[in-house]
Amino acid sequence: MDTNRLRIAVQKSGRLAEKSFEILKAAGLKLRYSKNDLYCRVQNMDIDLLLIRDDDIPELVNNDVCDLGIVGGNVVAEFQARADEPENIRQVETLGFADCRLDLAVPKDWNYRGPQDLEGKVIATSYPALTKAFIGEHGLNTQVVEMSGAVELAPRLGIADLICDLVSTGATLEANNLKPVSTLYSSQAIMIGNLKPLNEAKQAVFARLLQRVRGVLASRENKYVMMNAPKASVPAISALLPGASAPTVIQLAGREDQVAIHAVCAEGVFWETMEKLRDVGASAILVLPIEKMMA
Ligand code: PRP
Ligand code: ZN
Repeated sequence: MDTNRLRIAVQKSGRLAEKSFEILKAAGLKLRYSKNDLYCRVQNMDIDLLLIRDDDIPELVNNDVCDLGIVGGNVVAEFQARADEPENIRQVETLGFADCRLDLAVPKDWNYRGPQDLEGKVIATSYPALTKAFIGEHGLNTQVVEMSGAVELAPRLGIADLICDLVSTGATLEANNLKPVSTLYSSQAIMIGNLKPLNEAKQAVFARLLQRVRGVLASRENKYVMMNAPKASVPAISALLPGASAPTVIQLAGREDQVAIHAVCAEGVFWETMEKLRDVGASAILVLPIEKMMA
């Protein structure tokens, strides 16, 4: 193993996999891998990817087999709630995809009033540590049954009264006649790292990668907005542009009173904003995606 190559654990397949590769590719990593690979050598940077099950990622970063990991916050939170020793993991960055919630869900015909209704019940879950922490916080006498999959079937099978499971669209709960009643944890994909300082070579690669990843995230959140307008409208237009720094104002050739206005805006350039811009005099309004950003 090359100790100067940064090693990143990534989910091989599942809810995060595709978008994890997408963000790394957008950060300029040249990746080639096939379905059965457990390992992928990045061709243009000193980085290797380990392609594994998401549940194994926190442990591999924790014990320093990998320097970084891209994983659901839910998996990390469960790992931390389970650990009886202090862990060596830190959150490096939130990545803004794979949003989901860890919810308590009960049969639809339950009239759930609050945690007190869980007294004496049985909860099935793949997140026993987070579930037990919730039970503990509320001082309840509630049993937790750990299942590794198909948790949503537990109430119907008579294994449990309710479940604690990940919900993203809610379709799985709906299909199983369950309803969410309480959120224990709100999750998204995060990048985690080991607390131990990296050696110089790895640190340089890491700093470069992180700057690029942040650039990818920023470019997704920002839009490039262009329009023409009478000079007199510039102050009103500037005030309307959401999250923009000082816009660029350019004189239009052969049109004394007309300018072009360009600005980078934080997302939220909705139709309503465009209509307001037009109302204060803007025309030919364009909102464009930004491919890359570097401060
Ligand atoms: C989760 C969860 C549900 C489903 C919910 O499983 O266990 O089955 O997603 O999604 P929905 O609300 O959009 O229907 P996932 O596929 O993430 O597998 P994992 O928990 O084993 O990683
Ligand atoms: Zn999993």
